Amino acid sequence: MLVSSIADVHAEPTFIDLHNVLPEAAIHLKLEALNIAGSIKLKTARQIMRDLEAQGTLHAGCRVIESSSGNLGVALAFLCAERAYPFTCVSDPNISPATSRLIQALGGRMIIVREKDTQGGYLKSRLDLIRRMVAADPGLVWTNQYANRSNSRAHYLTTGPEILRSFPSLDWVFIGAGTTGTLAGCARFVREHSPRTRIVAVDSVGSVTFGGPSGTRYLPGMGTSMRPALADDCIMDRLIQVHEEEAVRMCRDIARRRGLLLGPSTGSVLAAVARLDREIAPTDCVVAISPDLGDRYIETLYNDEWIRARFPSLADLATLDTALTA
Ligand SMILES: Cc1ncc(COP(=O)(O)O)c(C=O)c1O
Repeated sequence: MLVSSIADVHAEPTFIDLHNVLPEAAIHLKLEALNIAGSIKLKTARQIMRDLEAQGTLHAGCRVIESSSGNLGVALAFLCAERAYPFTCVSDPNISPATSRLIQALGGRMIIVREKDTQGGYLKSRLDLIRRMVAADPGLVWTNQYANRSNSRAHYLTTGPEILRSFPSLDWVFIGAGTTGTLAGCARFVREHSPRTRIVAVDSVGSVTFGGPSGTRYLPGMGTSMRPALADDCIMDRLIQVHEEEAVRMCRDIARRRGLLLGPSTGSVLAAVARLDREIAPTDCVVAISPDLGDRYIETLYNDEWIRARFPSLADLATLDTALTA
């Protein structure tokens, strides 16, 4: 394979069969980390930049700014470095240290917002800061993943078709929601081309995206403290809200039982699948989307001390891990 852009370095659509999450049915886990940026967000970044360039909004001499809890920041840092756009990523203390260093290694500038907003999260503070910066600087282009329809279009054009091409008789698809770009784009494609498929949206307890009360969350990727504009476009048959503790347990368990190091949002999505075990028939075709893998979360999700400090109810998990590694 000979490619001219790093955005084109990626694997063929890849699904791994997991047999031990549900008692009988296999889950086809779609691995979206198999590209140069290590996450599903490379698709989003590529589509957003392509569309902004086509509209003439982004061109030589511009600088790019985005609010990201990690993965879109990494993907934009790769693409901006390749295209010589200086890049600034506005994030918050929940970003994993490895992700932050990766963005900086690619020449990106990190701004960490530490002031919580009125909803108890950081998203509104991050977006307010970007709005002020963009208003004061006409050369700064905001990719705005929470409201930019190029985000959902990326998944309408790629992720959705990739799933149905591999599994035309799809019974269930489980999709995690952050900006809701993956959910909005993928679900629309699936509903148009396979109306019988049940679409399950997965969100975190404490996220306000679909109307729940806001609460403290530590795991990046899924959930919001402010409803994203793209959420208005989301189609779903079911919404499952997962406690972060369930996501941690699932990730730790799959790592030891399958040798598959998953990112936290994949743990949430699999926990949602497990919740529906009574409704999913043994012969059902189930696809769940894994947005990224766990290597960037070694110092957080897979670090006993980090977990113990944030999730007192997981003390047993931390003790078990310590015992196993002693
Ligand atoms: C690891 C991870 N999982 C899930 C998501 C959610 O995807 P979306 O923003 O398309 O809803 C993201 C988004 O940043 C992510 O980084």
